[in-house]
Amino acid sequence: MIQANPHYSELSDTYLFVTIARKVEEFKKVNPDRPLIRMGIGDVVFPLAPSVARAFSEAALAMATPEGFRGYGPEQGYSELREAIARIDYRDKGVDVDPSEIFISDGSKCDVGHIQELFAPEIHVGIPDPVYPVYRDSNIMAGRKDFIHLIPATRQNGMVPLPPSEPLDLVYLCSPNNPTGAVLSRDQLASWVEYALRNKALLLFDAAYAAYIQDSELPRSIFEIPGARDCALEFRSLSKSAGFTGVRCAYTVVPKELRIASQDSTVRVWDLWNRRQSTLFNGVSWPVQAAALAVYSEQGQHETGSQVAAYLENARMLANFFRDRGYEVYGGDNAPYVWVYLGRDSWEAFDLFLNKAAVVVTPGSGFGDQGQGFVRFSAFQTPEKVQQAVDALKDLL
Ligand code: MLT
Repeated sequence: MIQANPHYSELSDTYLFVTIARKVEEFKKVNPDRPLIRMGIGDVVFPLAPSVARAFSEAALAMATPEGFRGYGPEQGYSELREAIARIDYRDKGVDVDPSEIFISDGSKCDVGHIQELFAPEIHVGIPDPVYPVYRDSNIMAGRKDFIHLIPATRQNGMVPLPPSEPLDLVYLCSPNNPTGAVLSRDQLASWVEYALRNKALLLFDAAYAAYIQDSELPRSIFEIPGARDCALEFRSLSKSAGFTGVRCAYTVVPKELRIASQDSTVRVWDLWNRRQSTLFNGVSWPVQAAALAVYSEQGQHETGSQVAAYLENARMLANFFRDRGYEVYGGDNAPYVWVYLGRDSWEAFDLFLNKAAVVVTPGSGFGDQGQGFVRFSAFQTPEKVQQAVDALKDLL
């Protein structure tokens, strides 16, 4: 009889955000008229920027004409888009990335989930705790449960996971961090690069929230750190920077010189990822890539930048609300997440906020054991709803 992958039984029953959605549905059944304020999953609410929507629809309509129709696209993504990304996200900021090192995809969740397929089964994997659950779950699915080493981010270390004394092979880093909002400083990131070079480890740098970094002293890209091209690759997404959570477009940067061990020799990670993507992925649709290209136009940068600024303003409002009440707060300055220490069970706090204030948050313990006692607020809401949430919570805290 066909057997299931045994490692799926090592996962928790449902993915974190599915559990939250189920609880919210139950609440709505009992309280059908109560308007909810959703600050749980980090899903954007502002509509697509006008210039982006225009490019999206024009490309879709062109697909209905003989001249404008396009079939399969280039595997790595259209070159105009990769060139615009290399220029605007990297070269204009003094960071050396070639368009040929960029792979366009349909989301960072997919890329960070799939990347572990490139590596041997029995490697030692470092994963911060708390962190985005996909890093851990994808490695458990691949049979690496006993090879995962959690790197604690705690109140004691300011929510910053630092290099351990033990050598690891693969390390996931997320900055600005999901869920804590903490951003690695240049020195902290340099200590990880030094660790990786010393241990011949590979760093997977998830920079999906890079657009939220406003402080010019903080690195947006790991490639700002000398030596990183020899030990790191980077994930970026348009989901939160340009409202693409439903549209789906992201990219992964794999430096051409990045090599890892393979039997008695070494192999380029670029070759492995290219082989994986060209075999198992057929690219992002042309209208989506045309929309992404419009994000990199002057008008697109202006329009999407205003949305990021508005979400950041929400984050500041939330962070200040909790700080004024004496709570310990992380994130919210250069990140769209506000991570609040409540000192009570995270799911209990989730239930309280939902049932008494109709505010949906994410329980910190859903991101790892070290998240216990915290809740995460997503600032991806309208300013009016954030104000309503703050008003509703005033009576509870
Ligand atoms: C989150 O809320 O953590 C994110 O929206 C999840 C994601 O980007 O997949």
